[in-house]
Amino acid sequence: MELGSFKRWQALIRKYSGIWIPSHREIFLKTSLLKRIRELHLTGYDEYYQKLQDKNWASLEWFQLIDALTIHETSFFRHKESFDLVQHVCQQKIVQSANAESDCNIQLWSVGCSTGEEPYSLAIALEELSVKTLNEKGLRFFYGITGIDISYPALSSARQAIYSERKLHMMSQQIKEKYFNRHDDQHWQVKEDIRNRVLFLQSNLNEIAKAPKRNYDVIYCQNVLIYFQPEDRIKILEALVERLIPGGVLILGVGEIINWNHPLLSRINDKNCLAYQRQI
Ligand SMILES: C[S@@+](CC[C@H](N)C(=O)[O-])C[C@H]1O[C@@H](n2cnc3c(N)ncnc32)[C@H](O)[C@@H]1O
Repeated sequence: MELGSFKRWQALIRKYSGIWIPSHREIFLKTSLLKRIRELHLTGYDEYYQKLQDKNWASLEWFQLIDALTIHETSFFRHKESFDLVQHVCQQKIVQSANAESDCNIQLWSVGCSTGEEPYSLAIALEELSVKTLNEKGLRFFYGITGIDISYPALSSARQAIYSERKLHMMSQQIKEKYFNRHDDQHWQVKEDIRNRVLFLQSNLNEIAKAPKRNYDVIYCQNVLIYFQPEDRIKILEALVERLIPGGVLILGVGEIINWNHPLLSRINDKNCLAYQRQI
């Protein structure tokens, strides 16, 4: 079966999702398309290509295809240095709020949250902070995390929050028992109070500029920009900056963007992280 022009597929997928399939991934694209063609009992690539442009037919199918084209690999505390930075930034905000005699509310955003390990790691990192300075003054601490991803199946596992023992290997027994309940012989589930801190939403980063603006203290975006062309990465980053509060921090994956700067941001001086702070 012939794929026809690879470029037309590249363009169609980019138009819908922003995702860029580089030419060295042509075989991967063919295999993913073929799987869907067989499952849908279609005659070939051409019929699938035509149908994907029919809005009524394709609205649900796009989710299946994008899911097949993206990798959901993730882990708890995947880049430890970045989580250490989140803790440092949030601890500072707690102290500042206590000094200003005000309650402390921290909002975090996990962009491309996959099956939930990243937003739950953020929640655990926040739970481990000291809120003594606030408590001593009778002030309150609140935090919330929003996790977005394009993939419905990934979000569905994220909401269940059940993980195999193997996935928790980087956590100490003490942290595991503090934040997880045993689900069965092989699995653990994130405790309900931690699950309740995270709101999972389906969203396409390609349309992020149209999304409502909310103010985040920390935007954590790692291993997602790699799917986009350089000019699309810049558009996404600009939309993220608009959603940071003054003083808020944007944390990217090391090496995921080079030679980028933004008039509202200053690079945080941490050689192990790629992070920026919005001017106050
Ligand atoms: C490799 S995972 C990274 C997960 C996590 N951020 C980490 O670093 O471990 C990439 C995630 O980005 C999501 N993704 C890819 N394209 C997207 C898009 N256009 N909009 C939203 N999410 C997208 C995928 O569904 C996948 O779950």
